Amino acid sequence: MFPLSFPLRVLASATEGQKVLDPFSGRGTTLFAARLLGLECVGVDSSPVAAHLSRAKISWSTPDAVTDLAERALKTPAPCEAAPKGEFWDWAYAPQTLEDICRIRGHLLDSSNLGISPEDEDTVHLLRALLMGVLHGPRTKSLPSYFSNQMPRTYATKPAAAVRFWQKREMPPEEVRVIDLVRRRALFTLAELPPRVDSYVENGDSRDALERKENIGKKPFDWVVTSPPYFGMRSYVPDQWLRNWFIGGSPDVEYSERGQIGGKREVEFIEALSSVWQKAAAACHDSAKLVIRFGSLPSLKKDPAALIKESLRASEAWTISTIKSAGVAPSGRRQADQFSTTGGYVGEVDVWAKRAK
Ligand SMILES: C[S@@+](CC[C@H](N)C(=O)[O-])C[C@H]1O[C@@H](n2cnc3c(N)ncnc32)[C@H](O)[C@@H]1O
Repeated sequence: MFPLSFPLRVLASATEGQKVLDPFSGRGTTLFAARLLGLECVGVDSSPVAAHLSRAKISWSTPDAVTDLAERALKTPAPCEAAPKGEFWDWAYAPQTLEDICRIRGHLLDSSNLGISPEDEDTVHLLRALLMGVLHGPRTKSLPSYFSNQMPRTYATKPAAAVRFWQKREMPPEEVRVIDLVRRRALFTLAELPPRVDSYVENGDSRDALERKENIGKKPFDWVVTSPPYFGMRSYVPDQWLRNWFIGGSPDVEYSERGQIGGKREVEFIEALSSVWQKAAAACHDSAKLVIRFGSLPSLKKDPAALIKESLRASEAWTISTIKSAGVAPSGRRQADQFSTTGGYVGEVDVWAKRAK
């Protein structure tokens, strides 16, 4: 993810009534920046986890409403709430914590027993994203910040490695009271949400999704602010397998690369990106600007500037006006941080482009 300061800085020169697109919306940082500036926005992401997180960034509710919904869910049997079984689950969560997570998960997948009105939809999006955010992470000495036994926060360890880690350290899971953590987190993250803006998030492949007006609306975009998958990065979906389970996926790691750009073959990667730049251009005003932050894994020894230039050239839709180093992202905020084997930092570039004449 890029820091909020990046899209905020880019969009500082946007004017009232303009519309913003992020065709690789991830956690919805661009959408949130647009919202802070009162700009209409659309996000697309092919990862269901990312699409849900993006959706939460455009939703509005209150800490009380989100906590009340969680409380109501915990008191009401869900249509389906069976807990997954196996060593990983026994070590990852204390039994009552897992039971409560599964009950809320069941209601979020089928809310028929809760009688949720369309006006409550945003509260549902925010509760879902809040739970996804606290599903796994490091254990703390004070009040727990995450439901799980010791785990990284950014990605979920694969089950066998996680179990080995806990067994070796004789580290059973601690009970975490689900409602207490939801309340604390809701108060912390949702206390002062900016007003809603006209906005939409589509879970789909941008190569198709941008062609459909029902996704992106009739009004053309003025800004495309985005960060495509870095070259060689193919693990967005499997790295998020536990959050993917929470939103209805399999309780095992899913290795699907469905709709994901980022594979190892350079030609295909460039072709896929250029297709998105083309479709985005077709949905933009002639005066629109495209701003991209991009990098590649150091282990692949590819120059990100050369890759992104080639993808834009191949699209025949955009002309680069500026390309410069983005500097070194602070530790923990880089896409490549999750790859402990890569070492070093990833060189990132910022590219500004305008519509080709
Ligand atoms: C670098 S991340 C975006 C991070 C985002 N800027 C943020 O701040 O959270 C790239 C995103 O592109 C998504 N993605 C990959 N291929 C895609 C495609 N064909 N269409 C839409 N999204 C795609 C991935 O799922 C991932 O969430």
